[in-house]
Amino acid sequence: MRIYREKDYEKMSQKAAEMICAQIMMKPDCVLGLATGSTPVRTYEKLVERYQNKEIDFSEAVSVNLDEYRGISKDNAQSYHYFMRRHLFDHINMKAFYLPDGMEEDTKKECRRYEELIASLGGIDLQLLGLGNNGHIGFNEPGESFEKETHCVCLHQSTIEANKRFFQSAEEVPKQACTMGIGTIMQAKKILILVSGEKKAEMVKRAFWGPITPRVPASILQIHQDVTLIGDEAALSKIPDCGRKFG
Ligand code: GLP
Repeated sequence: MRIYREKDYEKMSQKAAEMICAQIMMKPDCVLGLATGSTPVRTYEKLVERYQNKEIDFSEAVSVNLDEYRGISKDNAQSYHYFMRRHLFDHINMKAFYLPDGMEEDTKKECRRYEELIASLGGIDLQLLGLGNNGHIGFNEPGESFEKETHCVCLHQSTIEANKRFFQSAEEVPKQACTMGIGTIMQAKKILILVSGEKKAEMVKRAFWGPITPRVPASILQIHQDVTLIGDEAALSKIPDCGRKFG
């Protein structure tokens, strides 16, 4: 695992945007796996700036997002579809972007369709991830086993609490979501995980320096062959000084 220790959120976002641009320059027709949450927002802003400055062209690239809430339509301002359009897709020339359909009642069918879609695109070249407060990636919540494929999950109360800031109240946060599985994520050729802020520091330590366990879903990333962790100083404040420091 490569670790980039950046001074603050701004610098972390700058580094992440550079890496995503490098991926697109090396393989313009790449498949990007994208994430929601507060952490990548500034990264997306920087990608938009670069596109507007004509420094990067997304016209051959496609993206697949990690997850989507169940039961809210893509036009709903709280949906991840809407989030991604607002922060990224409405402002750049991405060839195509895909998210799970949270309104499909037949969840098994939808999850299978999403897995097949990713396979038909040739798999994910670069998967961007955030880290949930409870160690989740995508919406793979802590549990007794790693779920391999795209599946429907019941969100943990801690996730509902963490995400209620995007809603009027905790009651409005959907209780279920459709998420890529751990296997889907682990098949990505490269993984880029972003962590920011002191409140992630303990989980960063557990996920990347603790035992690999489904109780901390992100811990599985320790055995992926190509993971880059970019964190600000606050988020990396509890990790052992491992000597692999970049940036
Ligand atoms: C949500 C998303 C995750 C994201 C997490 C962390 O639960 N499903 O993909 O990593 O939030 O969000 P934040 O970046 O706001 O801490």
